[in-house]
Amino acid sequence: MADDTTDTKSSNQMWGGRFASGPDAIMEEINASIGFDKKLFAQDIRGSIAHATMLAHQGIISTDDKDKIVHGLNTILSEIESGNFEFSRQLEDIHMNVEARLATLIGPAAGRLHTARSRNDQVALDFRLWVKEELQKTEQMLTNLIAAFLDRAEEHAESVMPGFTHLQTAQPVTFGHHCMAYVEMFGRDRSRVRHAIEHLDESPIGAAALAGTGYPIDRHMTAKALGFREPTRNSIDTVSDRDFAIEFLSIAAIAGMHLSRLAEEIVIWSTPQFGFVRLSDAFSTGSSIMPQKKNPDAAELVRAKTGRINGSLVALLTIMKGLPLAYSKDMQEDKEQVFDAAESLELAIAAMTGMVRDMTVNTARMKAAAGSGYSTATDLADWLVREAGLPFRDAHHVTGRAVALAESKDCDLAELPLSDLQAIHPDITDKVYGVLTVEASVASRKSFGGTAPSEVRRQIAFWRARN
Ligand code: ARG
Repeated sequence: MADDTTDTKSSNQMWGGRFASGPDAIMEEINASIGFDKKLFAQDIRGSIAHATMLAHQGIISTDDKDKIVHGLNTILSEIESGNFEFSRQLEDIHMNVEARLATLIGPAAGRLHTARSRNDQVALDFRLWVKEELQKTEQMLTNLIAAFLDRAEEHAESVMPGFTHLQTAQPVTFGHHCMAYVEMFGRDRSRVRHAIEHLDESPIGAAALAGTGYPIDRHMTAKALGFREPTRNSIDTVSDRDFAIEFLSIAAIAGMHLSRLAEEIVIWSTPQFGFVRLSDAFSTGSSIMPQKKNPDAAELVRAKTGRINGSLVALLTIMKGLPLAYSKDMQEDKEQVFDAAESLELAIAAMTGMVRDMTVNTARMKAAAGSGYSTATDLADWLVREAGLPFRDAHHVTGRAVALAESKDCDLAELPLSDLQAIHPDITDKVYGVLTVEASVASRKSFGGTAPSEVRRQIAFWRARN
């Protein structure tokens, strides 16, 4: 007996703190989602108004009750928007919080709202509406980021910089061309967003718990009222599907990866060693101890946010992977992942758009770096193919010897005297110097999608028209 008492006491101590009152408190803590799903209040109310309107139209509830319900729901909407709504954790989630308040406001008619629906299709609806709006916002933000890059690309269609592979100087490119690479990346992200909107544009409401309903509801009517293309076709899939959330997260993860690569480049470019760009004060910070420093904090944080977004994607995939059809409470854990990722993505896009627009580009530094590292060696090889008729492999070999000689003399290829070049290959003439400059190098790369300023301008025009 004495042992029993000790046991009870020690388990109570284990619950500890706010769980001191026992299992009920633990259950409430693990079960309640109101702390985060209150974010869905506007979607929840919009969905309920559409549902009640349809019920009345179909003669399932009276017009009188519908009017009371709609009026009550609008009152709740303004209460929440003005901060005059008391959310209760005992009422678990946003759906029951709204419904309980409706009962207080309008009495028994409130009980008719939940006819022919379940929280399973209700939450699927609310969340879909939220994700759809977030995708639309993301689409707009990506468009702004693309516009920022198009402007910088236009400004720098002719500014040469070193192009890299393995982060080693490879061939000269233009900064405009480099900017346009990001336009392609964020353009793909934007089309993924558009496709995702198309995929999720089906209304879940009316699937009820999982099997549909015996009431003569009109799912096409609610779909239309809520701005969906059509209703979903399978009630089981409808309440167990979270693909739309996972698609959002995977798009966010891919866009985040792009943003992070851009952030990384900005971190590198803004070092004193590179000095290609200078960030505006708005997007950098000083050091508390080293007065000379200007740190690219915003870019670093964008790089880090990507880790959070990836975490959310993996979390939701893992939550969903073992679930039997149809709804399981595990699915309640979908929202925080999406909300957190959405916030990170929005911030990351906004920060990078600002940075791209504001940064000062040091074209002199870029040009100087573009010419170093024998970046025009390929141009020499191509000249030997074109003008001296050498097979490319032989030209590559000859050029390798020229580079080795220049290295041993600690000079650029263009600084080698003609006699040196002719000693390596007798067919080389002084015309070769025309292709050894970085400007000539980029101007020659006119192949479709290449770095020649004329091509860069063609790409810019394409994207300006595309939108
Ligand atoms: N709060 C729940 C969620 O987010 C709503 C659905 C509850 N459904 C249920 N059958 N318990 O998933």
